[in-house]
Amino acid sequence: MRKLTPFLFFSIILSGQNAYGWDYNKVISTDHSSLVLSGNYGEEPRFSHYGAKVDSASVGSIHDLWVGMNRPAYPVFGSETEKPVSLQLVHADGNPTLFLATESVNTIPVDGGTLTTVKMRDKAYPLIVELKYRTINEADVIEMWTEITNSERKPVVIKRMDSGFLPVRQGDVWLTHLHGSWAAENQITSEPLSPGMKTIRNLDGARNGQAAQPSLMLTLGQQPSETSGNVIGATLCWSGNYDLRIDTENDFCHNLMAGVSSEAMEYRLEPGQSISLPSLALTYSSEGLSGASRNFHKWARAGAIHGGENPRDILLNSWEGVYLDVDETRMNEMMRDFASLGGELFVMDDGWFGEKYPRKQDNAALGDWKVDREKLPGGIESLIRNAKENGLKFGIWIEPESVNSLSELYEKHPDWVLKTAKRDLIMTRGGTQMLLDLSNPKVQDFVFSIVDELLSKYPEISYIKWDANTSIKNFGSQYLPADKQMQTMVDYHLGLENILKRIRKKYPDVVMQACGGGGGRVNYGVMPYFDEVWVSDNTDALQRIYMQWGTSMFYPSMTMAQHVSASPNHQTGRQLPLKFRFDVAMTGRLGMELQPSAMSDEEKDFAKRAIADYKTIRNTVQLGNQYRLISPYDDKGVASLMYVDPDREEAVFFAYKLKHYRYQKIPRFYMAGLDPEKSYRITELTIPSDDSHSHLDGKVVPGRYLMEIGFEVPLGSEYASRVLRLEAIK
Ligand code: DGJ
Repeated sequence: MRKLTPFLFFSIILSGQNAYGWDYNKVISTDHSSLVLSGNYGEEPRFSHYGAKVDSASVGSIHDLWVGMNRPAYPVFGSETEKPVSLQLVHADGNPTLFLATESVNTIPVDGGTLTTVKMRDKAYPLIVELKYRTINEADVIEMWTEITNSERKPVVIKRMDSGFLPVRQGDVWLTHLHGSWAAENQITSEPLSPGMKTIRNLDGARNGQAAQPSLMLTLGQQPSETSGNVIGATLCWSGNYDLRIDTENDFCHNLMAGVSSEAMEYRLEPGQSISLPSLALTYSSEGLSGASRNFHKWARAGAIHGGENPRDILLNSWEGVYLDVDETRMNEMMRDFASLGGELFVMDDGWFGEKYPRKQDNAALGDWKVDREKLPGGIESLIRNAKENGLKFGIWIEPESVNSLSELYEKHPDWVLKTAKRDLIMTRGGTQMLLDLSNPKVQDFVFSIVDELLSKYPEISYIKWDANTSIKNFGSQYLPADKQMQTMVDYHLGLENILKRIRKKYPDVVMQACGGGGGRVNYGVMPYFDEVWVSDNTDALQRIYMQWGTSMFYPSMTMAQHVSASPNHQTGRQLPLKFRFDVAMTGRLGMELQPSAMSDEEKDFAKRAIADYKTIRNTVQLGNQYRLISPYDDKGVASLMYVDPDREEAVFFAYKLKHYRYQKIPRFYMAGLDPEKSYRITELTIPSDDSHSHLDGKVVPGRYLMEIGFEVPLGSEYASRVLRLEAIK
């Protein structure tokens, strides 16, 4: 075994050979990317490479190409004390250090790729740390995570537990990430990485997608571009608090560390207990941000989301139409009207439940999932019957993790809520809302039973909107013992995952939406159990363009619930043409969220045609590859994106006017992802009755021209938009 020395670096450069003499060079590859670990048994593995694909036969050459990139694959406190680390724990005897020795490196085939395990043991303690790397070859994604097993005789206390670590060579590296708040989620920001520690984190406790997103992109060696450049993408598959840290010192690397947040967290691992940390999914693309996103989208559809192969229904959600004023007549009218527009699914939102404490306002009834018979005398069965008669499916809203103090549930089980000992309860929404303690198995059973009872009693319910409107304000569990209080935030989410797994085992077919008071639950921790997310409570189509753009960085269009709502918009007061509202919503899972009876005949007529148009492009939008063309964040006055089906036979192009001036020079448009050898017939969609078709409608144009020569899109007025369907000519 040889040690790295400056002298050795020098000799390698001169000799041009891999003179390191590692016991192993482990090449972990997808179709177009590789991650390489090198190391000696008895020592910690080293990181060698992540990026473009490497052949096992010539792996030594990658070492010949770099100087100074000598980082561990997973730094731990002990063998490293002078830098931020990924794992820190205190052994049973109080020793706060780790020194890990590699015992084995194994790879086995798994569905769609391989699973590599690097097994390490502390040199002085029976504590095992395993690094796991699973490839999803076709999507060019590598999921990495860590498993820790305590074989000591007493508990060990984990202070920090990152899922993964990734060094990235310094040199004009740009970070792109998402930030926001309620009604303004997932806005993009890009910045060059500079010395110091950059932390992207969430401390909400329950929902983790609102203030920031547990995902990022790193553009290597140039400013971020949608269409070009080498990009590393990362997303942490965890629904709780997280820290994504990038430490930049005056050396060779930016050190990316991602995992469960160590703020207000200590995890006590009992003797014989193991913990498997959430995975950090990495991707690499040489096709810019949009290319890295396409990889994540493929990975999602291949299993990182639930139901990734099923096109989604067009739905009407009752929330912005009636808010809490749900009643049988209104629900039935909404169903009838939506059916006449060509809709497919009706979702009754908040307001339908509560017996002793009916949900007239948002301060009562959470926890009491019994139908309010005053509002719905015929019950859910009557609504389902009505939906059926109208040819619609039926869906329902629940918020099962929460309880109001005005509820029968709280009267019966005050010990089921999260609460700090000796402290008064802090109530949130409505002044009465609290979170149930999901670390408690009895509470887990209760939450499971909410869904179980609804679905077994009403098997026709085909869709559930699962909402979560509050953060963890009361830090502490009435179930966990005193020495485990610091793991409340983690055990909450492990409990949530347990419940969701049970639901999915019994009900694999029900479509479920993850909603977190808007976009709070947009994360890949819950997505294996949910089919879609509510992108934001803000349904203003103009602001949605920016939020949807950000969300699509990591999430495929089929997961993005996008609803046409009323004008003026309820969140911003902005007035937008119905066509613009539809054209924006149509880039994802189309829905409506308004009172259809308030629409004029002309609007209804347009909505009917737009819904029919969407049906012709639904598969391309929801299952195709997304190409983001002109970003709204580039401030060019327009935004444009398109979808192309995997066979490049069908495509759909969207363009929006975001700013409007006289003599405005808007950019020429260039499509992407088409077959340059095929010609495509262009059909313009969602044309208002008073509008003329654009010059492009009906034309047959070679794919190469559309991509290389470009074309003009008439966007003459404020909030103009165009949707073009392309079909390859046989
Ligand atoms: C917040 C959600 O984001 C809304 O869509 C709606 O379901 C309300 N909660 C209902 O309380």
